[in-house]
Amino acid sequence: MTAVPLDPPRRLVEFELDGEPTRVPDGSTILDACRSAGKDIPTLCQGETLEPKNACRVCVVEVEGARTLAPACSRKAEPGMTVRTDTERARHSRKLVLELLASATDLSTTPRASEWIKEYGAKPDRFGAEAATMNEPPKIDNDLYVRDYDKCILCYKCVDACGEQWQNSFAISMAGRGFDARISTEHDAPLTDSACVYCGNCIEVCPTGALSFKSEFDMREAGTWDEERQTQTTTVCAYCGVGCNLTLHVQDNEIVKVSSPLDNPVTHGNLCIKGRFGYQHVGGGNPAGA
Ligand code: SF4
Ligand code: SF4
Ligand code: FES
Repeated sequence: MTAVPLDPPRRLVEFELDGEPTRVPDGSTILDACRSAGKDIPTLCQGETLEPKNACRVCVVEVEGARTLAPACSRKAEPGMTVRTDTERARHSRKLVLELLASATDLSTTPRASEWIKEYGAKPDRFGAEAATMNEPPKIDNDLYVRDYDKCILCYKCVDACGEQWQNSFAISMAGRGFDARISTEHDAPLTDSACVYCGNCIEVCPTGALSFKSEFDMREAGTWDEERQTQTTTVCAYCGVGCNLTLHVQDNEIVKVSSPLDNPVTHGNLCIKGRFGYQHVGGGNPAGA
């Protein structure tokens, strides 16, 4: 039987959300309240297991009396506040964010991006063919995972997962300024010469597919990656006694990647190299790096 830790009871905060009286536990964000009410607010830099970074601003809503739009992912619900999620101003702002991101970044593997672009009527091509992009080839410097920074929206989630919020390896960080800002290892060294321990916890949180398993990258290149044909089975990692949960993504009877449940109260979606990439030993194949 799994022991589920219970949080102490929290008082309820009452406020108005799109004209409806709403009550959420104290400490909830506006986004939490929206999700409880079944409202679909786009998010990119928000992560279930990470502190909000407020980097993308695609989740903005209007709070009555506030001069600026508020990021729903980090703004806490306060008693008596009035929040509107669907105003022209909020929708216009989200549309502009999507246009700017999609004009500079490859969002082809960002879940729901094309849906939101359509929903908000965003036109990324209005900046013309000359709109600046990273335009660099994917970094393939190891057998486990690929970094394709043409797809990076600089959301900081990988940096936070690698650094003080989870892994404490600090293998990657933000480098450069302005349009040259990018995620980099120290001195832009190959991952193999960096502090990376190949836990893959950065891949778990990356919202755009800029970081991906080599297996997924290769299958996408070959046109064989097909999530509709994949099954997911959660099991227990057998490599040590900690017993982390692994979710095996299987296509055509082969494990093609491994994730971990974000709501696990112990590991919060994080794994080590053995849990994340040790699946290559299953079936007696030729494990990368072995
Ligand atoms: S695999 Fe782990 S250690 Fe390496 S960059 Fe990603 S989070 Fe950091
Ligand atoms: S690589 Fe992914 S997680 Fe890291 S900043 Fe870019 S989009 Fe965010
Ligand atoms: S999802 Fe809220 S600022 Fe990015």
